[in-house]
Amino acid sequence: MLDHFDLLAPLYDRAIPFARLDLMLEFLNLPVDGLLLDAGGGTGRVAAALKPYTRQVVVADLSAGMLAQSRNKQLAGLMAPAEQLPFAAGTFSRVLMVDALHHVINQRETIAELWRVLQPGGRLVIEEPDIRTLTVKLVALVEKLALMRSHFISPPVIAGYFPSQARVSVEVQGYNAWVIVEKLGD
Ligand SMILES: C[S@@+](CC[C@H](N)C(=O)[O-])C[C@H]1O[C@@H](n2cnc3c(N)ncnc32)[C@H](O)[C@@H]1O
Repeated sequence: MLDHFDLLAPLYDRAIPFARLDLMLEFLNLPVDGLLLDAGGGTGRVAAALKPYTRQVVVADLSAGMLAQSRNKQLAGLMAPAEQLPFAAGTFSRVLMVDALHHVINQRETIAELWRVLQPGGRLVIEEPDIRTLTVKLVALVEKLALMRSHFISPPVIAGYFPSQARVSVEVQGYNAWVIVEKLGD
């Protein structure tokens, strides 16, 4: 079934070019000689920029149209729900989700899965528009009118979903927030 993102896919990278490489390298503590998962990674817009700083990146997404764009960038892409990732525990040394948490059906399950597939000692970053700002409240309204099933939760609430073995910090710049999580251990 076609969804909003299948329709947006051909235009997506031109409409929203990735411009935060320096921040993402810092927050993900890259480079790393390991695997990076970009869950809800869409067209691979962000994954393509990060690929040179990892051994391999994998894009997981639900939209066939978005994944087709990521494969055009020679990225490994697979169709999988973020709530049920087809990877063994601890597969990835870095895990990323950009602008996708408010689109998934089950946010708690998604966060639990991102955490599960992260290696001990690894790092996870969730970038989300900050629903506490007026700009993002307006975006949420527009997405509601467009019948998208978005559900925004605030960065401190996202941070609170991680277990006690997580060291969590939140960075905010303008209307964007990053929840940065280290998996303690090993
Ligand atoms: C706004 S786009 C962001 C894409 C990419 N992260 C980026 O920043 O360019 C949100 C993406 O989340 C994907 N998505 C929505 N629900 C999902 C789910 N349950 N599991 C995996 N991906 C999902 C959509 O298909 C879409 O590609």
